[in-house]
Amino acid sequence: MLAPLFTVTILYDNRTTRDDLLPSHGFSCLIENHEGRRVLFDTGESGPLLIENMKNLKINPSTIEKVILSHEHYDHVGGVKTIASFRNDLEVFILPSFTTAFRENFLDNEVVLREVVREKEILPGLFSTGEIKGIIPEQGLVTQGSEKALFIGGCCHPGLEKMVAAAIDVANQTIGTALGGFHLCHSEDDDIQSIFKNLKKMGVKKIAPCHCTGFAGIDLAHEIYGTDCIDTGVGTIIEWF
Ligand SMILES: [Fe+2]
Ligand SMILES: [Fe+2]
Repeated sequence: MLAPLFTVTILYDNRTTRDDLLPSHGFSCLIENHEGRRVLFDTGESGPLLIENMKNLKINPSTIEKVILSHEHYDHVGGVKTIASFRNDLEVFILPSFTTAFRENFLDNEVVLREVVREKEILPGLFSTGEIKGIIPEQGLVTQGSEKALFIGGCCHPGLEKMVAAAIDVANQTIGTALGGFHLCHSEDDDIQSIFKNLKKMGVKKIAPCHCTGFAGIDLAHEIYGTDCIDTGVGTIIEWF
């Protein structure tokens, strides 16, 4: 059988799929390519909780070579120092909007900080969208596939449709699945419904909403996408071909 180009494992989320994996408010996922190279997208709030979930998923933190941080909220950047403690050459991809306080929190040579402005290839076929403007600027990730791309968002504060549109441009492919926190927890039902309907029009075949999508957002995602809405929490694995 064909091996996946990328395998994404949810390590940190508000919900869990297994009793031995802890849920907590925040987001982190592992992205592993077909050569076994591993990067993290976000790190949740608690380093120890992230490590505990990684241990139970048999993922050694020292095998992570890069961390991409979607934005500077505590529930996404909280575990980065803990991950950095496992090796001394960890590359951490941040945005121009990250504060001086965040940057100065690292000792000399503790990590290699890299600032992402425009789209950037992180691993072959895995790209950052670059900094998407908004009240809270943010970067998303997109992995190219044999036919369609996979989009991953941390909170999608600039707007889910805006981030998916940027991912389509960067990957030069339509989005097969959109995964992540969609930040619909403060939105009205009518607005949420129109966002998911627009995603369908944009060609997004499946969605995997989690983290700050909110209970109403996840319910409406199931209503609109039916069996193409993937139940997502810590331990969910998505293979991308
Ligand atoms: Fe968040
Ligand atoms: Fe956020």
